[in-house]
Amino acid sequence: MPTPSPQALEVSRALEAQVSEAIRLHGGWIPFDAFMERVLYTPGLGYYSNATRKFGAQGDFITAPMLGPTLAQAIVRQASQWQAAANLPLHWLEFGAGNGQLAADILRLSLSSKQQCLDGVRYYILELSADLAALQRETIARLVPQALESVVWLSQLPENFEGVIIGNEVLDAMPVKIVERCGTGPQEWLEWGVALEGANGQIVERSAPASAAVQQAANAVETYLGRALAPGYRSEISLSAVAWMREVSTCLKKGALLLLDYGFDAQQFYAPERVSGTLMCHYRHHAHTNALWHVGLQDITAHVDFSAIWSAATQAGLELLGYANQANFLMNCDALVASEDDDALSRARHHQAIFKLTSESEMGELFKVIAFGTKTVADVPALGFRRGERSGWL
Ligand SMILES: C[S@@+](CC[C@H](N)C(=O)[O-])C[C@H]1O[C@@H](n2cnc3c(N)ncnc32)[C@H](O)[C@@H]1O
Repeated sequence: MPTPSPQALEVSRALEAQVSEAIRLHGGWIPFDAFMERVLYTPGLGYYSNATRKFGAQGDFITAPMLGPTLAQAIVRQASQWQAAANLPLHWLEFGAGNGQLAADILRLSLSSKQQCLDGVRYYILELSADLAALQRETIARLVPQALESVVWLSQLPENFEGVIIGNEVLDAMPVKIVERCGTGPQEWLEWGVALEGANGQIVERSAPASAAVQQAANAVETYLGRALAPGYRSEISLSAVAWMREVSTCLKKGALLLLDYGFDAQQFYAPERVSGTLMCHYRHHAHTNALWHVGLQDITAHVDFSAIWSAATQAGLELLGYANQANFLMNCDALVASEDDDALSRARHHQAIFKLTSESEMGELFKVIAFGTKTVADVPALGFRRGERSGWL
């Protein structure tokens, strides 16, 4: 793994000191989700809040919007169908907008070709990181300056939102609980977290007997699966993604919600052979599983259990509009054709991006798209899920 710069290591040490203090204050142990929340989102120091470069070739990872406008094109086509069918205002709400590329592409594609104006378009962004919000503003100002006045950064969920809500790779960045089966009884679960060890108080992984609430969540997973997980089986449960999903579902008064991320339905997520879960860390395009490595300098993610997301949204009153892999969603939205105006180089780049976005060995199958909506939107079969729809798997 490449060695971080001295400045980056200083940020990491300051964050480590804060995490250690939190562990002490909580009696010597905190659960993994509390650790993940701190190392990703502590203001100024956490991975998503500090100034280190995260996105692109010089950063830690690449997401679909960085591969060109294909994803934005598909999202705009799908959203246009919902906007027209339900007479929605042209309002967008994007969660966790990263470097602002997807927002910029959606706004560019929404410009009316004749007048180059954004009549009625409002683009709200809810971003936890002040540093990323500044980067998003810079990207939009550089790529679509005329759209900047249509963009509004929010610090909390709006009430009674009408329009289209989107989130690309947001669910995987939410803190997860890590549980382990340690027997066969309903109370025989461990919860993993972090503690301090040795004279210099090194942060180490430690398990503790799971609380009644965590046992209940873990037992609910087994009930959903209709089978028990074997003793020693360790995996994640994202209670925070489920809680977020409920909240977002309730704030949508009329419209649709489109989420894209890597993950599986519950049967695949908790497949018997996936004995160590799905947690992954990313630093400078190296992927590994040591979440304690230089806290604050690496991304920590877990795959998404889309069955849990579906349960949360539908219990909160939304209807499922579709669930498919990314390749099918992009194909269904006719987003794979290069523009005739493109020059040879742009067309070659486009083909490379299409391969990455749709190939089974890259992002085409692992990445899924799920959409929910209110009644008026649900009456129309959604364009993006015409073929390869998989809601039966949830
Ligand atoms: C992996 S990055 C993806 C960024 C961007 N969407 C993209 O596709 O490039 C995860 C993003 O999710 C954001 N995030 C995580 N939890 C969030 C929440 N509860 N509300 C809003 N944003 C959140 C992070 O701040 C970060 O911007």
